[in-house]
Amino acid sequence: MSTASSPAKVMLLGEHFVVHGAKSVLCAIDKKVHVITKPIENRQIRINSDVSQHALDIDSTPGRILELAPLEFMARKLISEFNHVGGLEITIQSDIPPGVGLGSSSACCVAAAGSVSRVFTNYTREKILELAIESERTMFKDASGADSTACMYGGIIEYTKTGFEEIRTDYNPIFVVANSMQAHSTSSMVSRVREFQEKNPETFVSLCDKVSELVEHSRHAIMANDLVSVGNSMKKNQEYLEYIGVSNDKLHSMINVANKTSYGSKITGAGGGGCIVSLVDNDCLDATLGNLRDAGYDCFSARVDFAGLDTF
Ligand code: MEV
Repeated sequence: MSTASSPAKVMLLGEHFVVHGAKSVLCAIDKKVHVITKPIENRQIRINSDVSQHALDIDSTPGRILELAPLEFMARKLISEFNHVGGLEITIQSDIPPGVGLGSSSACCVAAAGSVSRVFTNYTREKILELAIESERTMFKDASGADSTACMYGGIIEYTKTGFEEIRTDYNPIFVVANSMQAHSTSSMVSRVREFQEKNPETFVSLCDKVSELVEHSRHAIMANDLVSVGNSMKKNQEYLEYIGVSNDKLHSMINVANKTSYGSKITGAGGGGCIVSLVDNDCLDATLGNLRDAGYDCFSARVDFAGLDTF
């Protein structure tokens, strides 16, 4: 039996633009998904979670259940590579709300890649990440890899499609995450942004450049604990996200409430619903949570997870 866990993530800067080559900043947070894998005798891939149980026959056609495609892909790949004669039972336990911009599917792919691969071998982190991203792309082909990389390595990272770098701090940032309770589909939001880009190519290039500049500036501000400056970059980034059409009235109102007391707020992830993230410190944490709750929004505080993928 092999168990692995991976954290959720928030996107501090750069979602959507990162898909088109811009820089981004992500932060792993202390909500986790655990994946347990057991070899079984039957030629089946069993996938169990709190909400569903599925048994897929290894010798039948793959891909019958779309949302299971990434896990099925990685299980089949490893079963075949390691000539495993039986099957696998994969159990997922998650406290990451799904489909709201906190990277639940990437975290699940990272934890599953860690857990499933350890049944057979000891892959490096790089190899596990490669498997997680390859699997995630069976469902969402445009995935930039940003979410999976943050979930894999933990901490705060600057990410572009060509690589990433850790941003080190000697303090532990605090965030407030509020959920709009509007589910969204990452791939349809990414398609919507692609349409915007095709209709407005020059504007889009200039927005990507501006986001990369914000990231460049914020990297130094994050390291220097200059929360005012990081918060202002988040607000500016939110304006760009509104411009490309991935925010909505509800998210806008939530951000207005959160901005009364926090350093800055924006959507996290694909938008069109999902969550917002606010940067706070100990002095404004309770007021930000209180104002959001008084306005009827579900919210929680989050700290950075520095561990990333954990296998045991
Ligand atoms: C989703 O958390 C972030 C997006 O930029 C998609 C991606 O980077 O793969 C919208």
